[in-house]
Amino acid sequence: MTTTNTPVDTRGPIDDTVRAAIRSMPKAELHLHIEGTLEPELALRLARRNGVTLPWNDLSTLRQQYDFSNLQSFLDLYYQLMAVLKTADDFRDLMLDYLAHAAADGVRHAEIFFDPQVHMGNGIALDTVMDGLLEGLRIGRERYGITGGLIVCIVRDMPVESAQALIEQIAPRVHDLIGIGLDSAEVGYPPSLFTEVFAKARAMGLHAVAHAGEEGPADYVIQALDLLHVERIDHGCHAADDDALVARLCAARIPLTMCPLSNLRLKVVADLHDLPIRRYLDAGATITINSDDPAYFGGYIADNYQALYDTGYSLQDLASWARTSLSASFIDDARRQSMLEEFEAWQRRHCEL
Ligand code: HPA
Ligand code: ZN
Repeated sequence: MTTTNTPVDTRGPIDDTVRAAIRSMPKAELHLHIEGTLEPELALRLARRNGVTLPWNDLSTLRQQYDFSNLQSFLDLYYQLMAVLKTADDFRDLMLDYLAHAAADGVRHAEIFFDPQVHMGNGIALDTVMDGLLEGLRIGRERYGITGGLIVCIVRDMPVESAQALIEQIAPRVHDLIGIGLDSAEVGYPPSLFTEVFAKARAMGLHAVAHAGEEGPADYVIQALDLLHVERIDHGCHAADDDALVARLCAARIPLTMCPLSNLRLKVVADLHDLPIRRYLDAGATITINSDDPAYFGGYIADNYQALYDTGYSLQDLASWARTSLSASFIDDARRQSMLEEFEAWQRRHCEL
């Protein structure tokens, strides 16, 4: 990945006014795995409640497992802890815990990934998972005013037949979903494997997104665009290795849902300055900032925004990403308009900063 010339930060420590402004900025979260919001405390509580035996019984031993060397080392823990989620109430409570964090971070709308193939592998019915998550979303909308929806993710390192079977299984509940995504171990599992799966899902009316260019090459981003016909790219860090691709993403206004703390913790980059964000901004790319798996990567969405502020980006940069996240959401014009109005009101209140 090409490193970039991010501005040098000479502002000193962030003050409380800026911190509060970042938190209250109306924003959408477009790259969030609900299973990645499972905090270790909740994992242990659910393990006890559901009689699931984990290799780690206490918080301090479990916490020692969170030092990741790459994407796979994180996925190993992430999939193992998912075994504690058994009932619709578990999924509802997980969603509500996330939405409480999201509300405190200024999230007005959230488009949320889930991995049904893994839950079904654990013996949980698709309806149990979806009913719980949707109930959480419904309560969260009443409680916090946050709109949202579910994006069903294909686990790309499971057999393609499993993904094909999933598409058949979701068909009766397609009205409860907003999109299809592609996640999990990337290298060796190119988007081309899922051309037919995505074609079927799009024919059902689902929006299409895919993780590409997180650890995988720029070519996977090109495949996601050409073969899966995605409307957004999740991560997209390695798109920066291909100038023509960056130009294409800009021209087609394809949003990249970036996740800085995730990229740092999974060692996609050694330092946040190494992310190609300034390069993308200078080129005119559409980017949004998200938290990915906040319980694993040391921060929810506002922490990700703040980490970039600490890296030298301005409050105006952050505000432009928040505004972009509202524009890049899969929502109707009325909801988009009302969120953009909220955003303009925030900007008027903070124009002196
Ligand atoms: N990358 C790929 N798959 C994932 C991730 C991620 O960061 N989080 C959960 N599944
Ligand atoms: Zn992700």
